[in-house]
Amino acid sequence: MTLLQWGILGTGNIAGQFAAGIRTARRGALAAVASRSEDSARTFSQKHHIATAHSSYETILRDERVQAIYLSLPNSMHHEWTIKCLRAGKHVLCEKPFARDVAESEEMFDVAKREGRVLMEAFMYRSHPQTLGVLDAIRRGEIGQVKLMKLSFCYRTNKIDGNVRFSHALAGGALMDVGCYCINLARAVANAEPSHVNAHAVMHESGVDEQLTASLEFPDGILATMACGMRVQADNTAQICGTEGYIEIPWPWKPPAGKAGFTIARSIPPRQDNPNIPAPPPRQWFSTEADRDLYAMEADEFAECVLDDKPPRIPREDTLGNMHVLDQMREQIGLKW
Ligand SMILES: NC(=O)c1ccc[n+]([C@@H]2O[C@H](COP(=O)([O-])OP(=O)(O)OC[C@H]3O[C@@H](n4cnc5c(N)ncnc54)[C@H](OP(=O)(O)O)[C@@H]3O)[C@@H](O)[C@H]2O)c1
Repeated sequence: MTLLQWGILGTGNIAGQFAAGIRTARRGALAAVASRSEDSARTFSQKHHIATAHSSYETILRDERVQAIYLSLPNSMHHEWTIKCLRAGKHVLCEKPFARDVAESEEMFDVAKREGRVLMEAFMYRSHPQTLGVLDAIRRGEIGQVKLMKLSFCYRTNKIDGNVRFSHALAGGALMDVGCYCINLARAVANAEPSHVNAHAVMHESGVDEQLTASLEFPDGILATMACGMRVQADNTAQICGTEGYIEIPWPWKPPAGKAGFTIARSIPPRQDNPNIPAPPPRQWFSTEADRDLYAMEADEFAECVLDDKPPRIPREDTLGNMHVLDQMREQIGLKW
C-alpha cells in the first residue's frame, strides 16, 4: 500500500507525540523533520527514527520525498508556514487553532485551493471512535433533543517564561490553546453555528487570557457553557444533556487508550405510583476503543484525503466556523493580535 511521506515542522511537545503516534499509522511514514536548531532536528530524528533532519524550516520545503507537512509551530506561525508549505507543493495538516483569526484562515484555504493541496486543521479528537460514537448517538436520538452542554478544558502549569501559551506575540492564551476544543465540540454536537456567544476572561500579565468562561446559544434552543484555563484544575469532562437523557464523556479531548468511551444516563426515576413499570437502566457505558494511536488515526484520515481523494474530516467551513467564534470571543475579552 502506498504510504504518505510526512515531514514534521517543529520539534516541540506535540511534534513528539505525533511522531510517536504515527508509528502505528497504516497509511503514513515519517520521512523528515525540521527545526530551527540543528541539534534539535538531529536529536528528534534519532529519537523517532526519522531518516532526514533539516536544520531549517526552508530546507524541508525543498525535500522532494516529503509529500505532507505536519505543522506544529506556535499559533502565530501557522498562517505564514502553512502558506509556504502549500506553495512548495506540500499538503498540510496544521495544528489547532488553525490561525490567528478568520482572515488568515480564509487565505490559507484559498492558497490550498489554488495549489490543489489538502489542508486540514488538526483536531485529532474528531477522528477518534469516541467522538464519532457520541455524535452518532446524538444523531440517533439516544438522548432526545439536545438542550444543554457543559464543557471544560483546563490545566495548571507553573511554567510561564518561555511557554508559548503565555506569549501574546505567539497568539497564546487559554481560549486559543484549549477553549477552541470546547467550541469545536459544541458546534459539532449542535451541528450548527452559535447565534450568540458571551465570553468573560481573567487576563494574565503577559496579555493573554489565563482563564475564560463563555456561553454559546445555538438554534433550536441549545445552550452550551464552557470553561478553559491554564492555571486551574477542573474535571475536563463534557456533558451533553437532552430531553431523554444525557451523555457524559470523561475524557473528551484526548481519549485515553484502554479507557475511551462515554456514558448515556437517564436520570428520571421510574414512576413511583406504578411498581410494574420497569426502570430503564440508569447508566450505560459505551466503550469506544481505538485500534491505533490517536495521532495515527488523524494522520491516516488525512492520508486518505491525499491518496484516495476522500473529503477531510474537518472541512474548510468547520474550521472557519470555529475561528469565527474564537474571533468573537477574543473581541469580547479585548484580546487583539
Ligand atoms: N492537537 C494536540 O493534541 C495539541 C497538543 C498540544 C499543542 N498543540 C498545538 O501545537 C502547536 C505547538 O504546541 P506545542 O505544545 O508543541 O508547543 P512547543 O512545545 O512550545 O513547541 C513549539 C515548537 O515550535 C517551534 N518554534 C518556532 N518558533 C518558535 C518560537 N518563537 N517559540 C517557541 N517555539 C517556536 C519550536 O521547534 P524548533 O525549535 O524545533 O524549531 C518549538 O519546539 C500549537 O499550535 C498548539 O496549539 C496541539
